Amino acid sequence: MIAPASEAELPLLMEIERKTFLTDQFSEALYLSFIVQPDIEVYLYRAGGNAQGSLVLKFAEDDTLCQVISIAVPPAYQGQGLGKELMLFTEERAREKKRDQIQLEVRSNNMRAMELYESLQYMEHKILRDFYGPGIDGIRYIKCLT
Ligand SMILES: CC(C)(COP(=O)(O)OP(=O)(O)OC[C@H]1O[C@@H](n2cnc3c(N)ncnc32)[C@H](O)[C@@H]1OP(=O)(O)O)[C@@H](O)C(=O)NCCC(=O)NCCS
Repeated sequence: MIAPASEAELPLLMEIERKTFLTDQFSEALYLSFIVQPDIEVYLYRAGGNAQGSLVLKFAEDDTLCQVISIAVPPAYQGQGLGKELMLFTEERAREKKRDQIQLEVRSNNMRAMELYESLQYMEHKILRDFYGPGIDGIRYIKCLT
């Protein structure tokens, strides 16, 4: 089940963050700011009493975009379709919010994530040189919903 995360669930979000990302982990303070920001939505994927994934979406005011700020499925739960479910949920939310595009950035060596996005018809839009630091490029993907 995918449901909005509350402040009380910060420890679960942080546990997912620690297990999923070896570097560039978001801090608890940043997650808290996401939860209270009106244009940001934070979700937890729960199943069998466990938090198995997280998703952070931004719906900026006066914009037509839905931005995926973060998607995370810890290694123990990867490869079971959860990432795909979270991305399909993103699409559902974007349509509900009348957005016409979903945008996200990914490290250019993150083959697994890129395969997921491409399998869902996200198109490579732009290479972002040094986006994640010197020598670490990003790729911006876009999916048009119209
Ligand atoms: C990227 C991530 C969210 C995918 O989640 P997941 O639950 O493992 O993905 P799914 O099981 O839903 O797989 C969906 C698709 O991803 C791709 N995929 C999944 N496992 C893969 C693997 N081991 N190798 C290559 N591609 C793979 C496939 O295209 C797969 O589609 P298919 O099952 O129809 O073949 C997850 O691996 C993750 O959190 N990784 C670390 C954090 C990260 O990279 N986040 C994204 C930053 S932009």
